[in-house]
Amino acid sequence: MIVVSGIQPSGRLHLGNYFGAIEKQIALQEGNECYYFIANYHALTSVKDGQKLRDFTYEIAATYLALGLDKANLFKQSDVPEVTELAWILSNLVNIGVMNRNHAFKEKSEKGISSSVGLYTYPVLMSADILIYGAEIVPVGEDQIQHIEIARDLCDSFNREYKTDIFTKPEYSLALMSKIPGIDGQKMSKSYNNTIPIFTEPKELKKLISSIVTTSVDYTKEPMPVNKDTIFTLYALMANPKERQELKINYEQNREFGYGHAKELLIQRISDIFGPVKRDYDQLLKDKGKLDSVLKKGANAARQKAQETMTKVKEVCGL
Ligand code: ADP
Ligand code: TRP
Repeated sequence: MIVVSGIQPSGRLHLGNYFGAIEKQIALQEGNECYYFIANYHALTSVKDGQKLRDFTYEIAATYLALGLDKANLFKQSDVPEVTELAWILSNLVNIGVMNRNHAFKEKSEKGISSSVGLYTYPVLMSADILIYGAEIVPVGEDQIQHIEIARDLCDSFNREYKTDIFTKPEYSLALMSKIPGIDGQKMSKSYNNTIPIFTEPKELKKLISSIVTTSVDYTKEPMPVNKDTIFTLYALMANPKERQELKINYEQNREFGYGHAKELLIQRISDIFGPVKRDYDQLLKDKGKLDSVLKKGANAARQKAQETMTKVKEVCGL
């Protein structure tokens, strides 16, 4: 299977990114042909500082490698400039009515990201990213579904309009839990300032987990609800069924167990899982030469595939 996904270098990666997308992307590298890129063209919609964009790009590359990505092609989106060429071609097949219904544009502009033409046509570039490599599967979080639907429609429109079968219709693939809550209980997102970064210093982690919003239930007198509880939800993502059941029993039946205890468990679990990986991450981040060479190798493979597609596309379009 051909698997394609991208992630924007627009800030520190967080547990929502990890459990909503990255974990699955890494699992899918086994036995599949994967193209994973750092979506730096997309990040231009919000990051207007070259040094920051470069730093975020290295951070993402180091994160993926530290987490065990070693079989997929990992590269910078801008190392395959053909995607912008395809995006232009595709933009002639999409009606503005479709773009006007795009939730992400509305949400992002409401949150203060400039309502630029780039932000408006973002899903067309994303469709080009997906179609140019012949993606069959696109592992992403729930918020990206509407974008994949646009890519699917554009695949059909292009093939129909030019009487061809150049493009393959992609399917999205969601994680078991595709909307991870942040410390305020809303969807975890950089734009909501409610994230728990994958790699944090112990002090920062403690502060963040302590600030997770909980109910005002008096645990000494009544059960703490498990449903929609952020601490429980996050812990459950990192626990086996037995551990999950134990925590549930503590919430519901142990009148000496409160949110403070649950938060301690969560801090411990996050440190156990991501602490050792952070050491590799810190090491990798210092070795820019290695990161550059991994990204270059990925880009060579991706660009070759993209150019093959573009030769066929230009032929049928008469370019
Ligand atoms: P953010 O919302 O922090 O800006 P991105 O839009 O860069 O995150 O998302 C990168 C990837 O991580 C996407 O596939 C997205 O669907 C996924 N993702 C982000 N936040 C979450 C979340 N809270 N739950 C599940 N998946 C998420
Ligand atoms: N829009 C995606 C996000 O914000 C990033 C992205 C760009 C992407 N191109 C893609 C994801 C292609 C999957 C496939 O997370």
